[in-house]
Order: sequence, then structure tokens, then C-alpha cells
Amino acid sequence: MKIIDTADGSQTIVNSDNVLYHSKHGALAESLHVFINSGLNYVAASKNKIKVLEFGFGTGLNAFLSYKYSIENGINIYYTGLENQAIPSSIYKELHYANNDTEQAVFTKLHASPWNQNISMSSFLFRKDLISFEAFTPSKKFDLIYYDTFAPSEQAELWEISMLKKCYDSLMPGGVWISYCAKGQVKRNLKFLGFEVQSLPGPTGKREITRAIK
Ligand SMILES: C[S@@+](CC[C@H](N)C(=O)[O-])C[C@H]1O[C@@H](n2cnc3c(N)ncnc32)[C@H](O)[C@@H]1O
Repeated sequence: MKIIDTADGSQTIVNSDNVLYHSKHGALAESLHVFINSGLNYVAASKNKIKVLEFGFGTGLNAFLSYKYSIENGINIYYTGLENQAIPSSIYKELHYANNDTEQAVFTKLHASPWNQNISMSSFLFRKDLISFEAFTPSKKFDLIYYDTFAPSEQAELWEISMLKKCYDSLMPGGVWISYCAKGQVKRNLKFLGFEVQSLPGPTGKREITRAIK
């Protein structure tokens, strides 16, 4: 596992299989465009208490940006990140998504806090569960899912109907699933499950992304 720079100057990680955690065209740009602007900001137009479930906590970038969104917009966020491979401290300490020391302390807290416990961070109630997506069974319903697993070319099984059904079942009626992936078969699987599927413009380097509404 090592850290590399992406085209917008923000960092990402490459794992031992040489797979990137974000778009090489810009990690920060991708997270902001897909998960924050097309997901969180969309849901926040009609709710000020939002339960977010993330598939793939990874670098913690989506969680960190969601924390900042909750503080800046006065939105209560109940955040659950799922992950089965924690990033070692030698790596996350070298990730610099924060703009100042206060933000860096928040980013560090997201990583250093214990797994499987609720952590209160002002308007951001955070937990991360060390569990595989396959083993996860939701005990409550969510308003928003960040589907940020590796791409279908790397992990085809995570984009099949069985796993997407877990997402469908984890959402409230009207809940939103958002992903960087715009593969035709994935959109057909989402439609099959009963989602209303929207194709939205992608960030730099990607034509489209997908938002699906339950
Ligand atoms: C695209 S990367 C991470 C993206 C993350 N949201 C970020 O901003 O860094 C996908 C993540 O999913 C995790 N992952 C992959 N397969 C998994 C599985 N079956 N169960 C749990 N986590 C998994 C990987 O370890 C990795 O951290």
C-alpha cells in the first residue's frame, strides 16, 4: 500500500494489487462531485438529519468531507462506514486532505477512533464497522448510501444483484444510492431491484455517474 498524487493534486492510495482508491484524475474532485455534491447535498435539500452508510471507508476522505459538510451547513449526520481492511497509521498520518491543524485532528480522529463504536463529533455522529460488506446486516434504515467499493472490473461480485439488494433493503423509502460507477449492467441491476436510476454528469475524466432512488 502506498500514497500517490492524483491529477488535482490530492492524494490517494494504491493497494498491493495496484488498484487506486480514487480516480487518478482527482481524488478530492471525485469525492466532492460524486458523494458530497450529487449525494449528500441532494439529500440535504429536504432533510437536516441524515443517516449515511458508506461501503468502503478506505482513506476516510468521504467521511471527512461529510463531517465538514455537517458543520458548515448545520446538518446532523449519523455516519456509518464499513471497511474490512483498515489503513495503517503509517499511511493515514501521511494523508493530507485537511486545510489546517484543526481539520487534521478531525481526520486523525476518524482513523484513530475505535472500530464498532459510536463517536460523537459535534453534529457528526460517527462510527466505522470493521466488517466485510458480505457479513454486514443493517440494524436500521439509512437515507443515503455512498457506494464506493472498487470498480466492477476489480470486484464484480459487489455490483451484482445480491449486494445491491442489500443496499436497497438498507434504505428508507425515498433513500438515495450514489456511486461513481455508470456501467450499464449495474444500472440494469439497480432498475431490476426497483430503484429509479438517474445518470448524472461525472467529474473530470468520467462522463457519467449514477444516482438511484428507492
Ligand atoms: C474505492 S476504495 C475506498 C474508497 C473510500 N471511500 C475512500 O474515500 O478512500 C474501496 C474500499 O472498500 C474496501 N473493501 C473492498 N471490498 C470490501 C469488502 N468486501 N468488505 C468491506 N470492505 C471492502 C477496501 O478495503 C477499500 O478501502
